[in-house]
Amino acid sequence: MIAIGCDHAGVEMKKAVIEALSAQGFEFKDLGTDGEPCDYPVIAEAVCKEVTSGGCEKGILICGTGIGMSMAANKIKGIRAALCADYFSAKYTRLHNDANVMCMGARTIGQGLACELAEVFLKTGFEGGRHQRRIDLITKLENE
Ligand code: RB5
Repeated sequence: MIAIGCDHAGVEMKKAVIEALSAQGFEFKDLGTDGEPCDYPVIAEAVCKEVTSGGCEKGILICGTGIGMSMAANKIKGIRAALCADYFSAKYTRLHNDANVMCMGARTIGQGLACELAEVFLKTGFEGGRHQRRIDLITKLENE
């Protein structure tokens, strides 16, 4: 199950991502908004808590730029959120950073690219090895 959420700027992009990835067998838990104006940190918290609680394996967050969502998400313990606008970053943030949340900007990239980024993010595994040590150092920072 994938947790997904957006603010009012990201509603259409969220619908496009859910439609494209559902067709490939992914299941989504949609935490809003359905269109009403809202404050993005509220949605970021709802999606990220699904991930940290283990209810969902990963999360996707969309706002106008993706920046506010990524700032809010990265305040939550256990979340490694990556703002992505290119294919390489969406792939390597899984391989090297074990990112568990991806953020995108509905006003900065197109819906077709967003669907491609979500697909590679959800299909790529963590490489482990030397990268695990670096993730552990991030976790150490989080606990200080
Ligand atoms: C909402 O207008 C906008 O500020 C929000 O979607 C996002 O871009 C913030 O980072």
